[in-house]
Amino acid sequence: MTNNRTLAILKPDCVRRCLTGEVLRRIEIAGFKICALQMQQLTSKHAEGFYEVHRERPFFRDLIDFMTSGPCVPMVLEKEDAVGRFRTFIGATDPEQADKGTIRRLFADSKAENIVHGSDSPENAQKEIAYFFGEPGIPADAK
Ligand code: CMP
Repeated sequence: MTNNRTLAILKPDCVRRCLTGEVLRRIEIAGFKICALQMQQLTSKHAEGFYEVHRERPFFRDLIDFMTSGPCVPMVLEKEDAVGRFRTFIGATDPEQADKGTIRRLFADSKAENIVHGSDSPENAQKEIAYFFGEPGIPADAK
C-alpha cells in the first residue's frame, strides 16, 4: 500500500470562521501538494457514511449535525508518508492536547469543532479519498 496520499477535510468551523485560506496556506508551506479540492455541503447521509465507524459513539449525532452545519472542503494531499505527516501537522483531536504550532492547537475550539480531519491510516486514506473523489485523487465529475 503506497502511503503518499491522504484525505483532509477543512470542517464547517474552519470555513465559517474564514480560516480556509489561512489553513490552506499552511498546508502548502508544510509541503503538502493539493491534488484535488472541492467545497461541499455534506448531506446527513454522506456524513453518516463517512463516520460510520463512530455510529455507536455518544457524540455521533452531534458530529453529524456539526459536519452538515455548513460547507466543508475535502481535499486530497500528496507528500511522502502523507498520512502520518499530516496527522503530526494537525495535532491531536483535542486541541488542548495538541502540540504547539499544530493547526488544531492554533485554531480549534474543542474536540468536536477541531477545524480539520486527516485520515488515520493509508488504508483508510484510500477509502476516504474514493468516498469523496471517486477514484483516488480524481474528482468524480472530472471523469
Ligand atoms: P475526526 O478526525 O474528523 O474524526 C472523528 C471526529 O469525531 C473527530 O475528528 C472529532 O471531531 C469528533 N470527536 C472525537 N471524539 C469526540 C468527543 N469525545 N466529543 C465530540 N466529538 C468527538
